[in-house]
Amino acid sequence: MSERSFVMLKPDAVLRRLMGKVLTRFEERGLKIVAAKMMEIPQELAKEHYEEHKEKPFFNDLISYITSEPVLAMVIEGEECIDLIRKMVGATNPKEADLGTVRGDYALDMGRNIIHASDSSESAKREIALFFNDSEICKYTMPDESLIYE
Ligand code: RTP
Ligand code: MG
Repeated sequence: MSERSFVMLKPDAVLRRLMGKVLTRFEERGLKIVAAKMMEIPQELAKEHYEEHKEKPFFNDLISYITSEPVLAMVIEGEECIDLIRKMVGATNPKEADLGTVRGDYALDMGRNIIHASDSSESAKREIALFFNDSEICKYTMPDESLIYE
């Protein structure tokens, strides 16, 4: 089933010029980028996005990190792509992330872990609506879809 996930390249990815490399992984896998924008996340939006962590000791550091510099916010589409992208992203703590995952290949520290991706269908819907209007999400067909999906 086709799904949409909210994916965000965090400030460390932007400042380390890793956006292209990470995007290429999703494109080469066959996924479809249907929305993308660079933005400086307002504090309130950052807090809403990470609302589930508001009581955690790392919450303030997380909000500072994510609002410190621009991010690249995206919507990515593909069959069962929510779990697939989480696998491609790797474990939250990059020290435990498998090689071949984004975090396992490019990050070392929990608080500088390069990328966010939705963890469930409910989170994806909520996060996409927080960051994008419907009109910002493109609807198109990839010409090689029959080569990517059976
Ligand atoms: P994300 O939401 O950013 O995709 O990361 P995640 O699902 O893999 O991990 P989550 O538990 O949702 O944590 C959100 C972000 O908070 C920071 N964090 N720090 N110091 C800590 O114990 C700790 N735990 C989490 C990380 O930056 C993580 O990505
Ligand atoms: Mg999370």
